[in-house]
Amino acid sequence: MKKDLISIKDLTSKEIEELFNLTDRLKKNKLKFSKALAGKTLALIFQKPSNRTRVSFEVGMYQLGGNAIYLAPGEINLGVRESIKDVAKTLSRYIDGVVLRTFEHKNVMEFANSATVPVINGLSDFSHPCQGIADVYTIREKLKKLKGVTLAYVGDGNNVCNSLLFACAKIGINMNVGAPKGYEPEPLVLKDAKDFAKAKKSDINLFNDPIEALKGADVIYTDVWASMGQEEEAAERKKIFRDFQVNARLASLAKNNALIMHCLPAHRGEEITDEVLDGPNSVVFDQAENRMHVQKAILIKLLS
Ligand code: CP
Ligand code: NVA
Repeated sequence: MKKDLISIKDLTSKEIEELFNLTDRLKKNKLKFSKALAGKTLALIFQKPSNRTRVSFEVGMYQLGGNAIYLAPGEINLGVRESIKDVAKTLSRYIDGVVLRTFEHKNVMEFANSATVPVINGLSDFSHPCQGIADVYTIREKLKKLKGVTLAYVGDGNNVCNSLLFACAKIGINMNVGAPKGYEPEPLVLKDAKDFAKAKKSDINLFNDPIEALKGADVIYTDVWASMGQEEEAAERKKIFRDFQVNARLASLAKNNALIMHCLPAHRGEEITDEVLDGPNSVVFDQAENRMHVQKAILIKLLS
């Protein structure tokens, strides 16, 4: 049976821990895995722009001895030139795995249901699982613990927030979300995350006040206020999210030396200021680097 990575919700805590352990080994001994996916080809179907996801998957695949083919939005024209189902069935005859970056989450599920090879969600409007796993891995690497750690996510209850909720809950990190009214994560995501957290004896909390969310936080996380596809809402969102900007004053409300995280790309001067993003506690580029290491572990688990 092929296995996909569509949402962290579908992973067990044990599977996430196994990914972390394999990532540790991959980081320590790159050469040992240089033939792990020899002869395998990964297709990257992207309907939105990307720096980190595309490059880290392509380079990761090469480092494992395999190949990657990037298919830009106009190329496959998913669902327009050809139905999602037919693209998935055709590509399954050529390649060994697919990373799909799309708008509607249901497209990823439809693709995965028709593909006979593993499908990895490279970001949909609902979730960004590779990001969430790499983020928790980064926290584990930097703080050397997960139990008792509190992450405060300040900003839009978007795809990245959803994946962090699942990742933190499954691994036992406490998470506070501070989002404006009307921009909170979906109630069902919060409910699921709370249920997963209960099993790990950790807490998930929602606030509409960023100050409340930051109390006692070991990690401060933010993301853009307008995600890809929401560009026309950007001006309105700038006003609504104004008090949620992670600047030095807001950051000082968390614990001393709290880690600063952002999935990137950042809109400097909007959701985060230069002084915080470039400050001594920022780990944003380690996060970006870890995307590649964690994804190599994901590729080995799903494709080999
Ligand atoms: N964080 C992330 O997924 O970045 P890209 O959009 O550049 O891939
Ligand atoms: N929430 C952002 C994340 C980008 C990596 C977006 O979807 O555009």
